[in-house]
Amino acid sequence: MANRRNFPRQSPASLSESFTRFAELECQGMSDLYYRLSLGIAADNDLLELAIQAKSGQPRPNLFFAAVQRLLMDEPDHPLAAFYPHISGGSAPHGGPLPEDPAPAFRVFCLERQQALTGLLANRMVQTNVVRRCARILPAFAYVNRLGLGGTLFLIEIGASAGLNMLLDRYGYDYGEGRVYGNRLSPVQISSTFRGSQRPVIPGAIPDLADRIGVDLNPVELNDPEETQWLKALVWPERRDELGLLEAALKVASEHPPRVVKGDALDLLPGLIDAVPGDQVPCLIHSHVLNQFPREARVMFWSLVENRGVNRNLAVISMEGVREGEHAAEEVTYFRDGARTNLRLANSDSHGYWVEWLVE
Ligand SMILES: C[S@@+](CC[C@H](N)C(=O)[O-])C[C@H]1O[C@@H](n2cnc3c(N)ncnc32)[C@H](O)[C@@H]1O
Repeated sequence: MANRRNFPRQSPASLSESFTRFAELECQGMSDLYYRLSLGIAADNDLLELAIQAKSGQPRPNLFFAAVQRLLMDEPDHPLAAFYPHISGGSAPHGGPLPEDPAPAFRVFCLERQQALTGLLANRMVQTNVVRRCARILPAFAYVNRLGLGGTLFLIEIGASAGLNMLLDRYGYDYGEGRVYGNRLSPVQISSTFRGSQRPVIPGAIPDLADRIGVDLNPVELNDPEETQWLKALVWPERRDELGLLEAALKVASEHPPRVVKGDALDLLPGLIDAVPGDQVPCLIHSHVLNQFPREARVMFWSLVENRGVNRNLAVISMEGVREGEHAAEEVTYFRDGARTNLRLANSDSHGYWVEWLVE
């Protein structure tokens, strides 16, 4: 098992490149704060020495920023918090360029809290549970449902984090153009848009799920306030809308707790698939998870799926990044009577702000 998660150790020089790439590909246009801080960290050996303490295999820039934000949440009066208005209570949400350079306050904050930061970096993981991604899951799920694979779909989410996206049928959706779906009275109302000329077929009422279960190396314990604070710390400071969705989904989850089992998906999946009753169809989903698998683990995952697909109908909805920082894609791989079909359903923004549907 250890081999599967054996990532090569990163050197400070390569970590510096990671931060520069992160700034240019992921932050530019999305977060001026993280853009400027990332470029600053890339050129700062002291901060690189700190960031390198992040657990290997994790996207280190994301983990580092979340750890800093988590500590800052307890110190809303610190000068750095002025750059995080949702923490300081400031009114103007960032969006455009910052009026001041955040790097000096960030540096001081980090270097004065090295021990606390190192503790978070060594023990925490990037487990963002992005609720708006349900806007990407919904059309893919409706597509798989329409395939008629021989039973009601049983959702199995790999890398479910807190399991909030398994509650997709409890949320409301508005894609504009009058395309509204799901529960319009839910506290979780997800907005997104369709791009391009194709539109997916989605029934007004979300198709029934036979059941749902998630698996995660480290399920987020929803009853533990420290765990939910960590989930919030993973949300980028500018994305207040995302924070609002997360808080609303946590409320729904407190009434309908999603079941997420702890363990490595590669160990648990065979048993989870086999436990699905014969008159139901396993519908696996993984969303921004396989990038945390070493290459050989990805190969093992697909051979495990193929192995099961020979003997029963099943589907896998894959939602992963395509090119770093650019866009993501939804693919479906399904097995019907042993025959495998794979197709790209959509391109999308990784956080679900838009979906470009590609098929009839
Ligand atoms: C970036 S989060 C994505 C969470 C969620 N799927 C979403 O899109 O909002 C990735 C999750 O995958 C989990 N994970 C990574 N490797 C795993 C493995 N081998 N087995 C189970 N879970 C894994 C992590 O613990 C983390 O919670």
